[in-house]
Amino acid sequence: MIKIAPSILSADFGILAEEIARAEAAGADQIHIDVMDGRFVPNITLGFPILDAIRKRTRLPLDLHLMIVEPEKYLAEFAARGADMLTVHVEACPHLQRTLTSIRELAARRGGPVKAGAGLNPATPPDTLEWVKDDLDIVLVMSVNPGFGGQKFIPAVYPKIRQIRTMLGTRGVDVSIDGGVKVEHARPLAEHGASILVAGSAVFEAEDPAKAIRELRAAAEA
Ligand code: DX5
Ligand code: ZN
Repeated sequence: MIKIAPSILSADFGILAEEIARAEAAGADQIHIDVMDGRFVPNITLGFPILDAIRKRTRLPLDLHLMIVEPEKYLAEFAARGADMLTVHVEACPHLQRTLTSIRELAARRGGPVKAGAGLNPATPPDTLEWVKDDLDIVLVMSVNPGFGGQKFIPAVYPKIRQIRTMLGTRGVDVSIDGGVKVEHARPLAEHGASILVAGSAVFEAEDPAKAIRELRAAAEA
């Protein structure tokens, strides 16, 4: 089963609570939250106070995508404030195995360990994950260069997903695709081995975000 993760980066922050409620009612599986620091990526988005506000408004798992340098400094605080999944970028983590392990040692507020994710930029090869395969719950494959919503999907991600799936073998690791995902990509992404589709502009810039979520799922599962 495919999971749909609307990215609130493209939501209207003036009515964020409503946007999230709508996504939840439409069957979103988790909420994707893009944290950017203006250093790892050329953009600054949001931080702890917004995470607190979101945590109060939804029971859905919160999927934090940390596009920041030195993410290890903030992991415990993100978990304490309600993150259920923490994805760091391999390009930002010289001690990736330690960072992933320390995420799994954190307790999620609703119980159980926080899930550990490793993000790969489009130019980063999957074999950077070869020796941390057992320390991961999620591989987040970027299908745009991180930093902004609304960019164009890079199709080179398809064979990359297949390679990652082969590398992971039978491990129950999620493969999440993030960036430029539209309804026409959903089926081929699922066929190549994606299990989570992140979608920002495809959902929140649609006239009917609920319909957009339902259509993404239907296409992926067709
Ligand atoms: C990009 C972010 C994505 C982005 C997705 O750096 O990580 O999560 O918000 O938005 P769309 O689907 O519009 O590319
Ligand atoms: Zn993201």
